[in-house]
Amino acid sequence: MQSRIRDPGPTVEGPLETPIVPGWGLTALEARRLLRQAVPEAAEWMCWWPNRSHRRTLTRVLADDGASEGVLGPWRWTRPDRGLPGMIHYDSQYADEAHAAHWIGLSRFEAEGEPPVHLFTCLDSTGQNGRFVLVSTRDAGWVRRLEAVLTALPCPSGWIPVEMFGGEDVHLDPKRCPLPFLPSGMADDVVDQADRFFAHQETYRRLGAPWRRGFLLCGPPGNGKTMLARRLMVGAHRRHGATLLALKVHPLLSENDIAELYHKARARAPAVVCLEELDGILEKVARSALLAELDGLQSAEGVLTLATTNRPEAIDEALKHRPSRFDRVWTLGLPEAGLRERFLKVRLPGLPASRIGRLAGQTQGWSMAYLAELVTATLLAAAHRGADAPDQTDLEPVLARMRPQHRSGERGHATGADGDVGFAA
Ligand SMILES: Nc1ncnc2c1ncn2[C@@H]1O[C@H](COP(=O)(O)OP(=O)(O)O)[C@@H](O)[C@H]1O
Ligand SMILES: [Mg+2]
Repeated sequence: MQSRIRDPGPTVEGPLETPIVPGWGLTALEARRLLRQAVPEAAEWMCWWPNRSHRRTLTRVLADDGASEGVLGPWRWTRPDRGLPGMIHYDSQYADEAHAAHWIGLSRFEAEGEPPVHLFTCLDSTGQNGRFVLVSTRDAGWVRRLEAVLTALPCPSGWIPVEMFGGEDVHLDPKRCPLPFLPSGMADDVVDQADRFFAHQETYRRLGAPWRRGFLLCGPPGNGKTMLARRLMVGAHRRHGATLLALKVHPLLSENDIAELYHKARARAPAVVCLEELDGILEKVARSALLAELDGLQSAEGVLTLATTNRPEAIDEALKHRPSRFDRVWTLGLPEAGLRERFLKVRLPGLPASRIGRLAGQTQGWSMAYLAELVTATLLAAAHRGADAPDQTDLEPVLARMRPQHRSGERGHATGADGDVGFAA
């Protein structure tokens, strides 16, 4: 995805009609209204939607370690204290720790001989972190220079590259690839099977079996398929030196992409080929193209194919339960009450066990992503109160808001479980 910069037009004059409650994030318009008061010296703001890798790098520079000043390319940046409400850049999606909250908010960039420029990012109104950045200049060239600096920054050590076909490359931060909460033993089983595959090349050879396998993770959206895929890939890379490749569904996806993907995987094996949204892929390419690769007309030695799908019924039997095709299929279903309770207990420490138990009952039929959203909103509410840990007063209004949404099938502020096109999201 390319980045976009947009001039949002003249600032709306007049007083703020409604107080802004940033618990659920802000639209670009609300953010500008807020900034008009907080940074009166900045007359104009532009809206910048950084591409994913720029966004990540910026987050890393501005939010990691809680630093309040630093250097980025030609700029010195600081974090002016303007008494903005709690604009918390909340990153629960990928964080190990439930409370991993990073502060981004407002930063001021200064360089010799140019006027200072403010950058502002917040949780946006879809609940996503810093998807847009407001920049207090009319000079799009300034943003392009910032992008060039961000592009040039090296990937932090320890991050693991995934070559993405049909999208931007991704870097996985192992610290942010936790195991999902799943029914007992399932996550370990998947990871263990992958480890065995990579560790036992010799066994395959002795048995005269081709050294390749396919795993399929199925289940309704938002129950940890992508999380698990990321975790498996990180382990395969770290423990077995596997090359990581992934395919993203896009409108022009063709058989050639599949061929090229597997060509690369074979050349750089051992490798994991991740096919997120396998059903979507099969809508775009002839099944035979994929079968040819899985069956290894060309020997695909050392390639583990890891696919996910929300619609297992769309994957035909010819692909499933066959050696070297998708010979292992795991279903990550909606969490049972016990699992919901375990998750909520870990993520909402400070709430009494009895309330957690009842909450597990009240969230029957919820996906893990929806539960995670409840947790995030509750933690945000606590943060706005200035409390360290959430209590029931934070939880109840969130629950009251989310339950009817869930019942009516509206997603309200989605966590990205639906629009999530894979671990790149
Ligand atoms: N099993 C789980 N354990 C913990 N968090 C989860 C789980 N499943 C989903 N989530 C939360 O929901 C988000 C989306 O999950 P994801 O793995 O992308 O779902 P899927 O790929 O099955 O649609 C995750 O980033 C995480 O915050
Ligand atoms: Mg997914």
